[in-house]
Amino acid sequence: MNKIALFVCLVSGLCLAIPLVAEVHTTEDSTKSNPSVRQHAVKDFHSYANPGDVRVRHLNLELEVLFGEKILKGIAILSIERVSQNTQAPLILDTRTLNIAKVETSSDGTNYTPTTFTVGSLDKILGAPLTIKLPEKVDRVRINYSTDPGASGVQWLEPSQTAGKKDPFVFTQSESIHARSWIPLQDTPQVRITYTARVRTPRNLLAVMSAENDPRTPRDGDYHFWMPQPIPSYLIALAVGDLSFRSLGRRTGVYAEPPVVDKAAREFSDTEKMIQATERVYGPYRWGRYDLLVLPPSFPYGGMENPRLTFATPTVLAGDKSLVSLVAHELAHSWSGNLVTNATWRDFWLNEGFTVYLERRILEAVYGRPRAEMEAALGRHDLEEELATLDERDQILHIDLTGRDPDAGSTNIPYEKGALFLRHLEETFGRERFDRFLRGYFDHFTFQSITTEEFVDYLKKNLLDKYPQLAARIPVAQWIEEPGIPASAPKPTSPAFARVESEARRWLRNEIPAAKIPAARWTTQEWLHFLNSLPQALDRKKMEELDETFHLTRSGNSEIAFQWLMMSIRNRYEPAYPRLEEFLTSIGRRKFIKPLYEELAKTPEGKERAMAIYRRARPTYHPIAVASVDEVLKWNNP
Ligand code: BES
Ligand code: ZN
Repeated sequence: MNKIALFVCLVSGLCLAIPLVAEVHTTEDSTKSNPSVRQHAVKDFHSYANPGDVRVRHLNLELEVLFGEKILKGIAILSIERVSQNTQAPLILDTRTLNIAKVETSSDGTNYTPTTFTVGSLDKILGAPLTIKLPEKVDRVRINYSTDPGASGVQWLEPSQTAGKKDPFVFTQSESIHARSWIPLQDTPQVRITYTARVRTPRNLLAVMSAENDPRTPRDGDYHFWMPQPIPSYLIALAVGDLSFRSLGRRTGVYAEPPVVDKAAREFSDTEKMIQATERVYGPYRWGRYDLLVLPPSFPYGGMENPRLTFATPTVLAGDKSLVSLVAHELAHSWSGNLVTNATWRDFWLNEGFTVYLERRILEAVYGRPRAEMEAALGRHDLEEELATLDERDQILHIDLTGRDPDAGSTNIPYEKGALFLRHLEETFGRERFDRFLRGYFDHFTFQSITTEEFVDYLKKNLLDKYPQLAARIPVAQWIEEPGIPASAPKPTSPAFARVESEARRWLRNEIPAAKIPAARWTTQEWLHFLNSLPQALDRKKMEELDETFHLTRSGNSEIAFQWLMMSIRNRYEPAYPRLEEFLTSIGRRKFIKPLYEELAKTPEGKERAMAIYRRARPTYHPIAVASVDEVLKWNNP
């Protein structure tokens, strides 16, 4: 019998029950009846949970969104299954600063009785284990709880921090290990669950989740969601605000605040083309709708691949689609990451390296090879620049993160080194064979979480061993287990970039003035490469000449503005300082603000300015960004 469907019927009302039954069958096909699905647990240093004994299968969440108190308050009902012979084993969940009011268990789904539980001591990185005594036969655990106003995975915004300025906004960010700060769960990516949710909000606001969202749902402050495919906890997401919706195609659309939504719809109008391009190579999109949500500017990331609903920073709305590689990236995660998931955070490159590789393939299909090659060349440049600053242990794809915050693994290594490895495989075996291999990989591991070892086994059996002569050219172990980049790694090149470099050289040698640089038709990527090609030190006259000719300080393109501001700090170019301050106080994307503060902190005067700006900006940043910048500035007097 279909337990999950029955359960959902009971808690979510009739209207949801009928379609769900059909979808849950597909879910069960892909997990329970698939003999290859791993039941054994792998060691995850970033979770207290014991999925080798007890596994959570489904979550039913009921939350009230209390803007006044900045808390989420409600009930999580976990459907669990014992998977070992150890009938004494408790259920151990991950939590961080949750207030647990009551824990009950049930064996019939109706009658609940209180059980004993303990919350362990709080670890700075991991949070605290919630250990729940489980009577035999119990298959439900009900937890009444509320979040802390400072929860690491939740940001509460004042109306002044939104585009509309009238209503508050709240959103979650669960990756890597922040789901535990707003839901008590087995917060390890090796555990996959389905979920249903009911979220109550002020009547005029809309709630959306990483689940099925009906774009036409009436705004009544009472919202229901269901996610029938099993997903890891880091993909559970919620946002609430004054959101409107624009359709982009039959299965895609965009949510954003009313002042932003039309611009967003124009920027993202190629989304359906991107989905089709990905499906042609890697198989069907398996998640129903694909929508985007544009968040207020304090969103700490560029994008987050929450299933069915990518979260995105407004800083990609350049007005000319020049930064939509972000959509390609988050969409690609619908295959690499969301269908096939890293089992632990040391396997993060399986998510991000594969996704950057797919992202470039999507760009190539939709915008042509030259564009994709430019992005690949920029990626390799950033990788090499960062490699020079990283400890050897952090240059390894299969990184050892024991005792460290998994967010520390978020460098260019999993992204760009990972993508370069896959590109090396593609170039060596040929695109046709490699495409077939990757498509088979997504099919084989659909809705599963896998380790690096499992990927390497699969790679060996399904590609390397079939073509031993070609395989001999690729140092697979060196790619995965060693620091640096193998000498045989691909070097993406772009003829357009070569032209940009020669213009940069001519200008630097004073052979031409800036006004003679043929930049009128340069794309954003060519601009970024131009700025990359300049030496670190530029004198005042050169900075001024560039700025007067191309108005870089006023650039509305966030990537160009960011690079220019980095150069301005390095070269003490004061005319850009007001813009720098404005940038740092209006945008909270970590990829931009952390390096800017780092650059400022390199000189005593810069550090002083950084502290003054940060004092004002800190209350507007997301907890995840705050944690990063606090470390950079050694901030300890909030
Ligand atoms: N999944 C990541 C974001 C992430 C990584 C959140 C690690 C928390 C921990 C997302 O897919 C991503 O990679 N975003 C990038 C943008 C992308 C275009 C490279 C970002 O936010 O910069
Ligand atoms: Zn990603």
